[in-house]
Amino acid sequence: MAGIDYNERIPNNVELSGNKSLQRALEHWQPEYLKWWGEMGPEKSQAMDVYLRTAVSVEPKGWAHYDYVRMPDYRWGIFLSPAQANRQVGFGVHKGDAAWQEVPGEYRSTLRRIIVTQGDTEPASVEQQRHLGLTCPSLYDLRNLFQVNVEEGRHLWAMVYLLHAYFGRDGREEAEALLERRSGDADNPRILTAFNEKTPDWLSFFMFTFLTDRDGKYQLAALAESAFDPLSRTCRFMLTEEAHHLFVGETGIARIIQRTCDVMNQHKTDDPARLRGLGVIDLPTLQKYLNFHFSVTSDLYGSEISSNAASFYTQGLKGRFDETRIGDDHRLESAEYEVPDVAEDRVIVRHVPALTALNERLRDDWIADVQKAIDRWNRIPDKAAVPFRFSLPHKGFNRRIGLFNALHVDPAGKVISEAEWTHRHGNWLPTEEDRAFVHSLMGRVTEPGRFANWIAPPLNGINKQPVNFEYVRFS
Ligand SMILES: [Fe+2]
Ligand SMILES: [Fe+2]
Repeated sequence: MAGIDYNERIPNNVELSGNKSLQRALEHWQPEYLKWWGEMGPEKSQAMDVYLRTAVSVEPKGWAHYDYVRMPDYRWGIFLSPAQANRQVGFGVHKGDAAWQEVPGEYRSTLRRIIVTQGDTEPASVEQQRHLGLTCPSLYDLRNLFQVNVEEGRHLWAMVYLLHAYFGRDGREEAEALLERRSGDADNPRILTAFNEKTPDWLSFFMFTFLTDRDGKYQLAALAESAFDPLSRTCRFMLTEEAHHLFVGETGIARIIQRTCDVMNQHKTDDPARLRGLGVIDLPTLQKYLNFHFSVTSDLYGSEISSNAASFYTQGLKGRFDETRIGDDHRLESAEYEVPDVAEDRVIVRHVPALTALNERLRDDWIADVQKAIDRWNRIPDKAAVPFRFSLPHKGFNRRIGLFNALHVDPAGKVISEAEWTHRHGNWLPTEEDRAFVHSLMGRVTEPGRFANWIAPPLNGINKQPVNFEYVRFS
């Protein structure tokens, strides 16, 4: 396993200098990437010195180095987790074969599509979040936003490396197109709907990193099982970076809940209007944002029943979450899985061949993970003796993809009429008024150790630095 070579123009641990034509192709893409970052990366951030971590090794412990960096000078590079000796395909019809070091011809276009779809989400989220730096609630949060942004940029590098190294001319063209699409653009949008939504404020940002980056975790984990070994190794290293993004989201919301509960107790009130007057976000509004981001992100897993997902699995391209730890035949020839269905206006469950229900299964794995984090959040009002608890809406709520697209389902899972939905959805999803209120709180706090009124400070700083550390320097 080669270490990371930072003397190269493109830092890497894939011995790029040993493959001159690949190196040239990526060195040609690099200035285009930097141009994209300049145009679509964090707004007005070019001259800031940011306390960022950079990968210095791919070992599970101690891979990161922290220092002040100007983001355009961040050393984006190509890092793969170490190869596992004699790795075998773990599932599908090729189970037991040696993992593939090259792309089999018959799966070439499917694999390319999978990689492009994953790759497209990375720059998309940077674009969605590019205005947020202007309204940061603290230097600590600003630094975390930028850390997420540079790492999403690196994830783009990771996918572009695969496209360049294994997909020839088509791959190079796709790599260019990844820099041309724009989140929310009417003519040339990003591929997936959730990545064309706006991230207009910090509450949305924390919900996005909490829920949508977590979708990223589950997609990457499923791809880390892939028979195509370079994809597997790439995703395994990306997962180590993704953990921080989830942390930013979960603790961000936890700090907002904490602050609101503190103010509720201080002023002995649970009246949303009063709390808004006191400059904090009332808990029912947080629940609405949770409902919104949960439902939009649920759609990313696709339809409950999917023949595409079944063939990706059978062909060995994309596995289940924790595939290698599951104790079954890893072929799913006779297994069944429960999916929702609707009969006489009621949501019921139905057993279907597990192979066709892999989207639903991955969504369920994600939901179980989200629920654990919600349980952690609920300890905050519990400790503060505030009788509010957060809960996840039913998975049919506010869906645009799959079975529930044609239906209206309330958060409790009851199928309701169009009229009832129209009448009541403002109780469940953020209204224009809610959004305007949240927007009104977004100021800009840049004094070290100070935090906006609507969010509590974190318990600890980054990399054992104090909370009042100067995480970003403006020059
Ligand atoms: Fe990512
Ligand atoms: Fe992420």
